Amino acid sequence: MTLRHFITTQDCSRAEIDALLAQAAGFKRSPGGRQLAGKSIALLFFNPSMRTRTSFELGAYQLGGHAIVLSPGKDAWPIEFEVGTVMDGDSEEHVAEVAQVLSRYVDLIAVRAFPKFQDWAVDREDQVIKAFARYATVPVINMETITHPCQELAHVLALQEHLGNDLRHRKYVLTWTWHPKPLNTAVANSALLIATRMGMDVTLLCPTPDYVLDERYMAFGRRNAEENGGSLTVSHDVEASYRGADVVYAKSWGALPFFGRWDQEKPIREAHRHFTVDAQKMALTNHGLFSHCLPLRRNVQATDAVMDSPACIAIDEAENRLHVQKAVMASLLATH
Ligand code: CP
Repeated sequence: MTLRHFITTQDCSRAEIDALLAQAAGFKRSPGGRQLAGKSIALLFFNPSMRTRTSFELGAYQLGGHAIVLSPGKDAWPIEFEVGTVMDGDSEEHVAEVAQVLSRYVDLIAVRAFPKFQDWAVDREDQVIKAFARYATVPVINMETITHPCQELAHVLALQEHLGNDLRHRKYVLTWTWHPKPLNTAVANSALLIATRMGMDVTLLCPTPDYVLDERYMAFGRRNAEENGGSLTVSHDVEASYRGADVVYAKSWGALPFFGRWDQEKPIREAHRHFTVDAQKMALTNHGLFSHCLPLRRNVQATDAVMDSPACIAIDEAENRLHVQKAVMASLLATH
């Protein structure tokens, strides 16, 4: 991989994505390695995690490396990201120093930083990871900000394991699901990017036009579809979307126009509780696979019957996080 950082798969060529997937499949067959021997990675979590933290720490260890986990504002100093600001608030140091100092200690820096959910115009600039990429002198990896590229690779690897490597023209439904809280659009953005990249016929199923994803990702999706022989359509029709689907990928997210005024979004969200993935909807599919990035609220986002069915590959996808992240870390270190 010739990339300096791994922040979005849109920065990768299709050949680079395929190479990462092949390397990940290799790590799945044979987990050990020395690709990170004597190397270390700092994992910075501004938000909670179960899978990402475990799989990155374990992946570094399995390749002979060492991971250091930091939670800025909790077990490390709160960090400032504004340039030129007078730092008389809560932040004790600037990302300029944090990224440069960490770069003297470790060989890779990985960052999880969710949106603040107050103003999408601000959140869509992805300020935190961009600042680390700007000041760090080692490669930076995205562990979920406004996209989740490691999840993308794990998802596609699981699909390829079940459907074969060529996913072109498979009917892929990315469905919004109900959830009591407005969640990050990162996984939905990412699903759209990677499914179109693989040339699938993608339907974005969501309650109303307010839930359509950011135009940046819709445009990437359209371009990916055009370049890879697939398609991208938006639908609000649940039955038509599920009918004949080969893959149903579920995620809940907050409607972008309602950032910062979530009380006004709540009635729309509540009116679409029926978007839960259930056996009745899955029966409309072409013996379709179901997946979710996890964590998932059972009988809210998908029913027990769906989660416990042979169609559900969410656990395979979660396992694949370990393998794809080893490929990402090894590839970045091999070229830097
Ligand atoms: N899917 C995922 O990133 O899981 P965690 O939030 O537990 O890391």
